[in-house]
Amino acid sequence: MRTLSRNTAAGSAPQHAPAAPAAPPVIAVRDVRISDRVTDREIVHGVGFELTPGKAVGIVGESGSGKTLTCRAVLGILPPHFEVSGGSVEIDGTDIATLTPRQWTALRGTTVGAVFQDPASYLNPSIRVGAQIAEVIRVKKGVKRREARRQALELLRAVRLRDPELVYGQYTYELSGGMLQRVLIAAAIAVEPRALIADEATTALDVTVQAEILDLLAELRERTGLALVVVSHDLAVVAQLCDEVLVMRQGEVVEQGPTHSVLHDPQHAYTRLLMAEHEQYGLDKFLTPKEAS
Ligand SMILES: Nc1ncnc2c1ncn2[C@@H]1O[C@H](COP(=O)(O)OP(=O)(O)OP(=O)(O)O)[C@@H](O)[C@H]1O
Ligand SMILES: [Mg+2]
Repeated sequence: MRTLSRNTAAGSAPQHAPAAPAAPPVIAVRDVRISDRVTDREIVHGVGFELTPGKAVGIVGESGSGKTLTCRAVLGILPPHFEVSGGSVEIDGTDIATLTPRQWTALRGTTVGAVFQDPASYLNPSIRVGAQIAEVIRVKKGVKRREARRQALELLRAVRLRDPELVYGQYTYELSGGMLQRVLIAAAIAVEPRALIADEATTALDVTVQAEILDLLAELRERTGLALVVVSHDLAVVAQLCDEVLVMRQGEVVEQGPTHSVLHDPQHAYTRLLMAEHEQYGLDKFLTPKEAS
């Protein structure tokens, strides 16, 4: 693995960028390869994208194509015997391979947050949900309990939970899947991360609730400049939210580009297949005409 000198100077622009973009990427994934150390098998064969503030990148593809492993590599939480065997991940210009566990803990949550498909398993069933969010805020922001509670309530309101005061005092088993996902999003954005990774975050939800959560993510992106990585097997989800899309199959990125061009003019047979599968769900309604006049 490459060893790079640690870039600790906050806000320093990457020196090697040829033409400096307007905003430096929050996350830069460069030709990342992921291997199983036990079997010595490469599972992800090179993924790359750059995520600047307010941008949304989508990753689609069949089950087992490496979407979740890619996200976990970015978050530095690969399963035990997996490793990044090639390429690099930079968060705020720092190669994550150079981070100590302590630095990782500081970065995870504060710069990059994540929400997954099964919100309940990321929350403690025996602690009221509001108190869990408040605790995150208290620890990460170093504010007093009372202020943490106020901010937690504000967040529950921001994720459009109807009765924040009531939800604050409830336990996970008292909440529906959609409510739990909102709570988890609230917890993930509590410390104002600059990027959020949503891995199948709406998959388990019914269509209406799914649409509401997607709206919420779009709104957060618009309002706070939150950058998004959205993983879904559902092209419609990506079409709705993302500027750029990566289509993965068996650990390869078979197609990548602006969502609009990929979905209007897919180059790879697999992308066309995915689109054909989705036609029945009404993907069309998310595709705005290229030249609306
Ligand atoms: N913890 C693990 N232990 C062993 N193999 C794993 C583990 N996680 C992933 N894999 C393997 O790595 C490959 C990619 O898995 P990954 O979870 O990234 O796929 P995915 O694209 O997220 O699929 P899905 O759409 O089903 O979530 C699969 O072949 C899977 O079997
Ligand atoms: Mg997955």
